[in-house]
Amino acid sequence: MKIETLSVFPQMFEGPMDASIIGRARRMGFMEFTAHDLRDWTHDRHRSTDDEPFGGGQGQLMKVEPVFEALDDLLAEQPAKVLFFTPVGETFTQAMAQQLVGEQRLIMVCGRYEGFDERVYTRADRCISLGDYILTGGELAAMVVTDAICRLIPGVLGDELSNVEESFNDNLLEYPQYTRPATYRGLSVPEVLLSGDHANIAAWRRRQSIIRTARLRPDLLHQAELSEQEWDLARAIRRELAEGTTAAERLDCEE
Ligand SMILES: C[S@@+](CC[C@H](N)C(=O)[O-])C[C@H]1O[C@@H](n2cnc3c(N)ncnc32)[C@H](O)[C@@H]1O
Repeated sequence: MKIETLSVFPQMFEGPMDASIIGRARRMGFMEFTAHDLRDWTHDRHRSTDDEPFGGGQGQLMKVEPVFEALDDLLAEQPAKVLFFTPVGETFTQAMAQQLVGEQRLIMVCGRYEGFDERVYTRADRCISLGDYILTGGELAAMVVTDAICRLIPGVLGDELSNVEESFNDNLLEYPQYTRPATYRGLSVPEVLLSGDHANIAAWRRRQSIIRTARLRPDLLHQAELSEQEWDLARAIRRELAEGTTAAERLDCEE
């Protein structure tokens, strides 16, 4: 899979794209990554990629011509899906990462300043937002999306199962996890996890996932596949919350 970015700060990708799992995925040939400099598609002495907005207003906007010309050249080499980062795009999710990992080539276009001239979006296959906040530029968004996609490429994570049992995969948050020591400063690991009874452990984890999701992300439950009994549990948690539990109780997923 090829991932390419188009931005005025290609140097921001140096380092993060060489380290850890992404770096290893690149070295092992699972993913190719290239950061293009949008200024390579400018024609003036100052290599300008921004200009004042028509109609007045604060700040500068990313110009339309360099983006169009860059995409003309890059897409002439090989087809690709073009993603633009903008706070007014669809919110990035794990499901989106799973769709994008099926693509052969992605070009991620990163804004700066007050954003893009609106006409650039005629070249977009998808406009993506990371969430309801404003970043100074799209480079960090491109890194986040690249990271989320890269770890889904088959073979990139050593243990294939580590992708399966994770928050959002089945529209439930992950259950609480613990490692040694079994007791630390009076904080003990739930007994069931020390029992060696795998069926009981699986049942406990499933129940904890439902409790945690009902408490913290009830919006996810509508897309989760729950049995009648599990729905009863989720509804009981919601009722309990409506009747007023403390914030500490809400965050503590122990029963
Ligand atoms: C300062 S922001 C522009 C914000 C724009 N004026 C607005 O209010 O929607 C500059 C660039 O950062 C990126 N960016 C900022 N926040 C983002 C977010 N939540 N998700 C994705 N990209 C974002 C986009 O590429 C955007 O063009």
